[in-house]
Amino acid sequence: MAVPDPVPTPGIDPETYDRISRLVYAHTGVRLGPGKEYFVEGRLGGLLEELGCSGWAELPDRLAAARRRGADALIRAVVTHETRFFRDQVPFRALAERVVPDMAGAAREDGGRLRVWCAGCSTGQEPYSVVMAVWDRIRAEGLDVAVWATDISDRALDKARRARYEAQDVGRAVTPQGVERWFDRQHDGRLRVCASVRERVRFARLNVLRDPTPEGRFHVVLCRNVGIYFDRPARKHLYRVLGRVLGPGGYLLLGAAETLFPPVPWFKTCYFDRTLLFRRTPGAVP
Ligand SMILES: C[S@@+](CC[C@H](N)C(=O)[O-])C[C@H]1O[C@@H](n2cnc3c(N)ncnc32)[C@H](O)[C@@H]1O
Repeated sequence: MAVPDPVPTPGIDPETYDRISRLVYAHTGVRLGPGKEYFVEGRLGGLLEELGCSGWAELPDRLAAARRRGADALIRAVVTHETRFFRDQVPFRALAERVVPDMAGAAREDGGRLRVWCAGCSTGQEPYSVVMAVWDRIRAEGLDVAVWATDISDRALDKARRARYEAQDVGRAVTPQGVERWFDRQHDGRLRVCASVRERVRFARLNVLRDPTPEGRFHVVLCRNVGIYFDRPARKHLYRVLGRVLGPGGYLLLGAAETLFPPVPWFKTCYFDRTLLFRRTPGAVP
């Protein structure tokens, strides 16, 4: 029997494309620009059925009507959640060997805890890695650590809070001794981050481009592989947000392929083992 040809979905008309790309920008800071219809069709095609649309022209209104669910669906379709434990390794050594000693005095003044914000924490591997990485140094300084871990995606945060990961994914970055120390083996063979690490991480939904930041001043911010898809104005806004939450001398860690572009005067660069770190300079962020 001959397989019937699939019924072609009519393409996106320019007005609908414009509305969809503005929605994408508003929710994610990702500017699609002209000529990315193929991206929208590929990534958002599944939403037509999910939201019961008979064609592309209906999608913007359906997304708006679905409010948080619509925003979530859009975010899911556009952003990537790729992450892993101790991603790029060196930044986590930098945290233990450079950042904790440099910021210990400030942490002592601020109640005895190193305050860390992981902005764009995805499914949790990054904030949990932070706690594991700094644990011994923090103890040696007589301090504790508290991590605020935020992401735009509810789905990613649900997984992060469950803290259960496939053993093979953990094993790629964590030594067998590390697994023994930091994880509890589950009945299904997966590994769960141990309670003492989980207790030091608090998760919340937060869009770094729109929502108020966590309260208080931070000693360290990780915003790694989040701003890479933002356009220039969105990145400038992001750097302001990150500059405002960091106390004097506080550290900003970006992803391995990222730098501050355009550069801003409220951060100066320094290196740890050929990895770029950014330090908050004195003075207000305009
Ligand atoms: C590629 S992952 C990086 C995860 C982790 N930081 C790392 O480097 O392994 C990017 C994360 O940023 C989140 N994200 C993207 N845009 C965001 C925004 N405007 N506000 C907050 N989180 C955002 C995504 O949901 C995703 O989980």
